[in-house]
Amino acid sequence: MGDGGRLAGRRAIVTGAGTGIGRSVAIAFGNEGAGVGLVGRREEPLREAAAQITASGGTAIVLPADVTREAEIEAAILSAERHLGGLDTIVGVAGIELYGGRGDDRVDRVEVAAWQAMIDANLTGMFLTLKHGTRALLRNQGGSMIITGSPTAIRGHALGEFAYSSSKAGTHGMVRVCATELAPEGIRVNCVIPGMIDTPINAGFFALPGARAEAEAKIPMKRAGRPDEVAGIYVWLASDEASYTTGAFFVIDGGQISMC
Ligand SMILES: NC(=O)c1ccc[n+]([C@@H]2O[C@H](COP(=O)([O-])OP(=O)(O)OC[C@H]3O[C@@H](n4cnc5c(N)ncnc54)[C@H](O)[C@@H]3O)[C@@H](O)[C@H]2O)c1
Repeated sequence: MGDGGRLAGRRAIVTGAGTGIGRSVAIAFGNEGAGVGLVGRREEPLREAAAQITASGGTAIVLPADVTREAEIEAAILSAERHLGGLDTIVGVAGIELYGGRGDDRVDRVEVAAWQAMIDANLTGMFLTLKHGTRALLRNQGGSMIITGSPTAIRGHALGEFAYSSSKAGTHGMVRVCATELAPEGIRVNCVIPGMIDTPINAGFFALPGARAEAEAKIPMKRAGRPDEVAGIYVWLASDEASYTTGAFFVIDGGQISMC
């Protein structure tokens, strides 16, 4: 599409844009007319997503960066501003899980190294995205920041994911304090809480015998969501339709949170 969409003229960056939810958000933004900077660690998936946006007439730039490294995320944001003529939308999606023998577990079994890796990726990475994203939005005199949270931040149902749940609870706190403190600057800050979405982060879990069916049975809609079913709320939060919305949390989960 390119221009004329609900985000025509918007200039955004999306972290974690190579796969899963971030990729769907970046493509949806491109389809709605926004110029999009795609941030992620691996260049190839970013290039593929960017190609899909440009093939439909949109504007996309590839910005390889590890969000845990301040110099890299700062450089990516500065580069996006240069190429897109400023930024008005910052979308933090990058994150990791370490369940299933990769270090996350019940609290008494979590080693400091796994805890630290989780905090680095999910909390420090989001902090640095918000820090340099806020500076860009201050230069723009306003904008929208959208953070990706998790039901594990508000419910205790993610057994064996003490570190992940804690890290995501931290991101929910960031939304509240940033929304309050940045409202006078014309910056809105909101949180999207995806339920169980069929993305690479869940591939290991879905591969366990019976795990997917058991988990889907606990969702009123009886299935995992697709990443494109989550992307629409990010589009709305980036648009003028959400001009009075800040400090808010949007659950997209097939009804799961109403049951647990
Ligand atoms: N899929 C779900 O069920 C679900 C549910 C709730 C929340 N989430 C959250 O949604 C977000 C996206 O996850 P997803 O489901 O699309 O999985 P995903 O694994 O496809 O996406 C995560 C992306 O973040 C990137 N990333 C990780 N660490 C990074 C770093 N240090 N620097 C730059 N990029 C980094 C990964 O390369 C990947 O592209 C995550 O924050 C996740 O915690 C997912």
